[in-house]
Amino acid sequence: MAKATTRYVCQQCGHTFVRAMGRCTHCNAWNSIVEERIAPPPAASHAAGRGLGGQIALSTPRRLSDIEAGAEERMPLAMGEFARVLGGGIVPGSIVLIGGDPGIGKSTLLLQLAVEVARPSVVLYVSGEESERQIKMRAIRLLGGSENVTAQEQAAIEANMPPNLFLVTETNLDVIMEHIQKVQPDLLIVDSIQTTYMAGLESSAGSVTQVRECSSRLRELAKSGSMSVFLIGHVTKEGVIAGPRVLEHIVDTVLYLEGDRFQSYRLLRSVKNRFGATNEVGVFEMRERGMVEITNPSEAFLAERMINTPGSAIAVTMEGTRPILVEIQGLTSPTNFGNPRRTPNGLDPNRLLLIAAVLTRRAGMRLGEQDIFANVVGGFKISEPAADLAAAAAIVSSYRDVPLRADTVLIGEIGLSGELRMVGQMPARLREAGKLGFKTAIVPKRLRRGEPWPKDLEVIEVRSLRQALDSALLGEKADKAEKTDKAKEG
Ligand code: TYD
Ligand code: MG
Repeated sequence: MAKATTRYVCQQCGHTFVRAMGRCTHCNAWNSIVEERIAPPPAASHAAGRGLGGQIALSTPRRLSDIEAGAEERMPLAMGEFARVLGGGIVPGSIVLIGGDPGIGKSTLLLQLAVEVARPSVVLYVSGEESERQIKMRAIRLLGGSENVTAQEQAAIEANMPPNLFLVTETNLDVIMEHIQKVQPDLLIVDSIQTTYMAGLESSAGSVTQVRECSSRLRELAKSGSMSVFLIGHVTKEGVIAGPRVLEHIVDTVLYLEGDRFQSYRLLRSVKNRFGATNEVGVFEMRERGMVEITNPSEAFLAERMINTPGSAIAVTMEGTRPILVEIQGLTSPTNFGNPRRTPNGLDPNRLLLIAAVLTRRAGMRLGEQDIFANVVGGFKISEPAADLAAAAAIVSSYRDVPLRADTVLIGEIGLSGELRMVGQMPARLREAGKLGFKTAIVPKRLRRGEPWPKDLEVIEVRSLRQALDSALLGEKADKAEKTDKAKEG
């Protein structure tokens, strides 16, 4: 048996070194290397079985034609938004990691999942963060109670509690394993993987070694039976799940719960999924009684829009396979001193710089002495260039103080010469806009024939940003406005 040794592990990427270093040569993170004492890894037991004499269950190669096809069996979920992100439901034997900032609602969402799944199946909820009492109080709240429930109400809720939901506060993995043996759950929820530890390892809970070993053990257990595992993971300040790479490789699916802390909308996004499409998004709203699904997010995001005010444009962005309409607001204001500022909220800062530069150089806007603010409403984040045109139009509309046509969506990527470029999945975007009652869409001119545009709205095809602004701004023509601009200067 090998004796325990010391090694140095980068807490960012999990790379191991034989000596301490100030910077990880693998992922270039500074001061991320921590000394960890290691006992022989549990995986060693496999090595013993590797020889022919070893007693491990042998796998047998099978002909492709002999393997049963068809989609995996899935545990259906009443929470449709959650099921969508998972690719249609929980796959038995799968292991899912769900990450997100503290307080964003991970525990709440998974407790709701547990309550729901525990009606037909058995669920074990292991928490290392909250006491059983606290979780119980939360469950009462989710099931319709308030902070100070009367005994009568509590009894009614109590009667409604799923009988097969087991709670335990535990952080020691070996003890958790025993609980699993006893309870035999169909679904195991571990809140959180960073508080779980294995006694054999001498590094502290939350270190890369602990996180990796604990999740590997749970994964083995999941794969050998049909138990599904959900792990909650914390996200570091840099926005990665602590021990990021290592964990992402071990699990089948990685979900992020994100949203603005000051907004109630929460997006559940799949960034990796062995059983479904990635980039799928489920939309929820955090309410008094937990997370509520938003089945029509576009309507929710547009609800507070003020029609006919300058500086507001509607973009259609794709989240996975789903088109979502969002309002983009722009505001320009004369710079008081120093360099003009470009402040994006929900948009990529570099995209905003590019849009401002193209507006200045190719559309004749004098934005050099203007601070620009651009905001995606509802705490939504857009990373695709298809929202360029809407962002540009919102900024110009604010600068000119002229509203954009109210029932119009703007879709298109802006090129450096001020041209508009086609974006993917245009028919799906237009159909969604039509469904929500929009009458007009301003889009890039189509150079290749494809699927015909949907009938329910008028599609205006334009070649350049300038033409798009002409058609989008109410009344005033962009070039006419430019003349007044010149007149103002003179
Ligand atoms: P929580 O699920 O504990 O977050 P995480 O596990 O991601 O750290 O959510 C905590 C926040 O959610 C807290 O600010 C209270 C709020 N909340 C509601 O708004 N409604 C609810 O029904 C519940 C249970 C929590
Ligand atoms: Mg929590």
